[in-house]
Amino acid sequence: MKNTKTKFTLRNEKKPPVCEYKSKVTYGRDGKRRNYVCSQIATSEVIRRSQIYLDLIGGKTKLTKRDKQDLIALTLQNFDNFVNRGFIDYRKSVAEADDYAAIEWSGRGSILCDILGRKFIDCLGGFGIYNTGIKHPKVVKAVSDQLKRMPLSSQELLDPLRGALGEMLGEIAPGDLQCCFFINNGTDAVEGAMKLARMYTKKTGFISTLGGFHGKSFGSLSLLGKASYRKPFEPLLDNIHFVPFGNAKALEEELKKLTALGVEIAAFVVEPVQGEAGVHVPPDDYFPQVRAICDRYKILLILDEVQTGFGRTGKMFACEHWSIVPDIMCVAKSLGGGVMPISAFISNKKIWSVLEKNPFIHSTTFGGNPLACAAGIAAINVILSEKLADKAAERGEYFLKGLRAIAKKYPKHLKEVRGKGLLIGLEFADEKFGYRVAAGLFKRGVLVAGTLIGVKTIRIEPALNIPYKLIDTVLEKLDDTLNVLTR
Ligand SMILES: Cc1ncc(COP(=O)(O)O)c(C=O)c1O
Repeated sequence: MKNTKTKFTLRNEKKPPVCEYKSKVTYGRDGKRRNYVCSQIATSEVIRRSQIYLDLIGGKTKLTKRDKQDLIALTLQNFDNFVNRGFIDYRKSVAEADDYAAIEWSGRGSILCDILGRKFIDCLGGFGIYNTGIKHPKVVKAVSDQLKRMPLSSQELLDPLRGALGEMLGEIAPGDLQCCFFINNGTDAVEGAMKLARMYTKKTGFISTLGGFHGKSFGSLSLLGKASYRKPFEPLLDNIHFVPFGNAKALEEELKKLTALGVEIAAFVVEPVQGEAGVHVPPDDYFPQVRAICDRYKILLILDEVQTGFGRTGKMFACEHWSIVPDIMCVAKSLGGGVMPISAFISNKKIWSVLEKNPFIHSTTFGGNPLACAAGIAAINVILSEKLADKAAERGEYFLKGLRAIAKKYPKHLKEVRGKGLLIGLEFADEKFGYRVAAGLFKRGVLVAGTLIGVKTIRIEPALNIPYKLIDTVLEKLDDTLNVLTR
């Protein structure tokens, strides 16, 4: 019989590969304990396998159709055994894509390709990292040029790119926000903002919003207004209080109550538009009132612009819609131009001064590294020179108009279309229907932010320069999906 094995053929389907390499005690899928001794063979096998992937990354390997099918199966097996098998059931890209699971392979602009060459219009935008689109050539060039010269920081010499990105971000940030601390994720930015607020005000408490999302490390999780994410980790930070989003009166009432009780609050932490909660845009008078209330009660206002920053809502920062300036602002996601992870918290000189006496009071090894800063500089250059905030405003209006016209045809199922710029939410009658729409769109080649865990509202956050032609295609595919599902 012909040997049909490829480089990516599953190693041992009966005995999962978790058994092959572990040197210590491990547990099989059956839950039974097994002992494995690390041998020369296992080590050489890891070297052999890593070389296969290095050749693949380096473009040396020409993949046959069979190779690709095997690589898909092996990736699923690897996720099952070594990453988190929960993802396998949870992703519509695994569950709903015809015969083969979608394994991401390449992309450009608003188009994402899987390993089998199937194309998807990217309306998920990596949950907001691709404001400049996938693989913007200017960002890729900046990062690869910097990579050749100096990838990470010596940790002792001053890095010119960190200073330069700090200056640029300080220039484009609203009002007197000027000083920046760079880290890697949104949650890191929120943690830093919380520490700065505590240090500056010498108070411990925070007020957050119901449904608010700020990340999943301990401090930011303590601000997260959703029980399902909080419960398994409680007790979280204490002296955290929650108010409804978009209701300034509720914030004032809470502060009045806490003041009467002698509870000291450092800051109110809030997203300009709640993203994860389902794209909730506050009333126009909300943030001006919030700003005034924070001033009146002498607490800081921390705005989490992790998702809304860098043009997403049609302004460089969403707070510009309401002409307010926070005391501390958190940014992340698209600051890295869709190429590198980078985030920052930014504040004014006065507040920042508490960090200056001992600059190591808050520090990080990888934050603001030269590669990430090169990406950030290029991203800001692209966002400004290509007027991406204006493009988001115009395209957002066009998209919303088209979506609202579709919603009128399916009022029982598509309950509401809302958004600002290109941060758009489609609210469906229930979770099950929302998931079917997300999966239906996926089958038709459109990727949206909808998951099994919370898909009553599907999020649409494409690249800010998505071509109008692609928006029209997405509208057609949504209409077709709804038409089929409601028949
Ligand atoms: C508003 C907001 N804040 C914070 C975060 C956390 O960012 P990260 O996942 O990079 O830690 C997110 C992530 O989606 C977010 O949307």
